[in-house]
Amino acid sequence: MKQIAILASGNGSNAEAIVHYFRSTREAEVALILTNKREAGVVERAERLGIPCHYFTNKELREGTAPLALMREKAIDLIVLAGYLCLITPIYIEEYPQRIINIHPALLPEFGGKGMYGAHVHRAVLEAGRSHSGITIHLVDEDYDHGHHLLQATCPVHEGDTLETLANRVHELEHRFFAPTIAQYLRFL
Ligand code: GRF
Repeated sequence: MKQIAILASGNGSNAEAIVHYFRSTREAEVALILTNKREAGVVERAERLGIPCHYFTNKELREGTAPLALMREKAIDLIVLAGYLCLITPIYIEEYPQRIINIHPALLPEFGGKGMYGAHVHRAVLEAGRSHSGITIHLVDEDYDHGHHLLQATCPVHEGDTLETLANRVHELEHRFFAPTIAQYLRFL
């Protein structure tokens, strides 16, 4: 069975949705969760779900030696970034070429690039007056938000939307599409 490592820095709702999905389909297994935030919601979720969760500093994560050793030990096939706010350095891409997937909470390429994460993304969409936003699930390469797109899905932006209402709508898309998109990609690995 293919082994997945999830890297997350936040609440971890996507990580949890992915764990549940693969526990039910048995096509793959989330073997490991890595985080750069000790207090992140994902840590508590991992504990509740019984998934080994390891904290590393940003420096350790950027440098890569210890996290990659752990992934090797667990025979990880695919890395999934689910709200991970630390740079993926070239060492990861060398070891996992075309095997790192990220989710971006907007339609790329327009609302991406350095500094475009979390609420910044939704604010930019609202300020641009767009009628739609959405999600982009893509492979990770050396440039921010640049790799090959695996899936985009859209949702409307409503009059009077706030950062929160838009973020919630985008989150629903993430929970619906992230795990099945990972599963489909894994079938080709
Ligand atoms: C998601 O919106 C994801 O697209 C973004 O960070 C958020 C993570 O949410 N990169 P959660 O931690 O999975 O709840």
